Amino acid sequence: MNFAFPKGMLLGVSTASTQIEGGDVRSNWNDWYRRGRITDGTDPATGNDHWTQWQEDTALLARMGMQVYRFSVEWARLMPEEGKVNEAAVARYREELTALQEKGIRPLLTIHHFSNPMWFESKGAFTRRENLHHYLELVTLVVDHFGDLCSDYITINEPNVYATNSYFFGLWPPGETDFMHTLQVMENLAYCHIAAYRLIHKKRRAMGYTDTMVGCANHVRVFAPKDPQNPWHRTCARLTKWLFQDALTKAMTLGRFPLPLRNHWRIPPGEYTDFIGVNYYTRSTVSGIGDGVREGSPRNDLNWEIYPEGIVECTRELYALLPRPIWITENGTCDNDDRFRCRYLYEHLKALCECGLPVRRYYHWCFCDNFEWVEGNSAKFGLVFVDGESRRRTVKNSGHFYSEMIRRGGVDRELYEKYVAPQEYDVR
Ligand code: BGC
Repeated sequence: MNFAFPKGMLLGVSTASTQIEGGDVRSNWNDWYRRGRITDGTDPATGNDHWTQWQEDTALLARMGMQVYRFSVEWARLMPEEGKVNEAAVARYREELTALQEKGIRPLLTIHHFSNPMWFESKGAFTRRENLHHYLELVTLVVDHFGDLCSDYITINEPNVYATNSYFFGLWPPGETDFMHTLQVMENLAYCHIAAYRLIHKKRRAMGYTDTMVGCANHVRVFAPKDPQNPWHRTCARLTKWLFQDALTKAMTLGRFPLPLRNHWRIPPGEYTDFIGVNYYTRSTVSGIGDGVREGSPRNDLNWEIYPEGIVECTRELYALLPRPIWITENGTCDNDDRFRCRYLYEHLKALCECGLPVRRYYHWCFCDNFEWVEGNSAKFGLVFVDGESRRRTVKNSGHFYSEMIRRGGVDRELYEKYVAPQEYDVR
């Protein structure tokens, strides 16, 4: 064996509702499309039609040997108007959860993955403290209706990416470039995470369950100074890392709100996660304000550096904050022609399996090609190809590799030679 999965480690894939379901559900992303803000013009309403093809997709997950599956609910679908619940959507998510259970695939449900219903967005979404109870109403709805079918929850996906892309860089809806709003959104999301953490536990405990697992999917990156000898590069790297991820993960995980975040709610310090959720993709090379990419480094098709050691570096840091079982809730790459995804998978999984940390789950991003936010359908992260016209699914070479390694419990010489050895990264 080149490497073996530790005993008990569960492997699967991750998705998000807006990226795969399709349908005009009056979300901020349907609106963003109408405002012409998706670079390749893809309409998320077309998506890849998982909302209707979910049975075929669930059967495919099972055929591929997935043991766990992370997906999200679409808030705008469940609550199309303020105070209104769409019972048909509730029933449909229940069917999907039941089917997963029946196939022996353990679901991990994300409650918020970047998209908001327009009625919430129009009120100022997470910028205003008086709006936060709406998010907690969504959490209540989710646990009341799905709590018997699902024990594992992610409260919020990548609050730092949501806050910075939507309120600092202005790339995502509502397109603001306001540093104060960015910080307010971060602290409000930290509050939401902790309140949801408590609420989910309280509700499932009242239902008689003792197996609840709640956490957040933290987007973490390595921030390396371009020139380690240059004090300005070093300072910028440290500051960017602090503002982008460290202050917020500390607030969410431990209820300690370090500057520049403020604890308006007097939340007591505590331990507000049952697992360490890690979304890892890349390393940033810093020489000023904003990111850069290291020259002469392996790159993916979005020009992100491929840096497998980073997954261990970031995970180790989060684990040092609070030692909990580690779930890699996302890891993957944009590889439009599936030329190097096998190598990427191999190197990241090998690093994780050999690092000595308690890595208990790995969810590859993504199950299938999908709507990659502002990039639309042009950036492909899937193990499964989706035909643009017919929406037919075809498992890619990397999908076969992943299934095979799950079946064999790791990667042996034969698998390595067949899938990994022939692949190389582009270096730029
Ligand atoms: C997000 C996904 C996204 C992926 C690739 C993560 O930041 O959670 O929704 O598709 O990265 O960019």
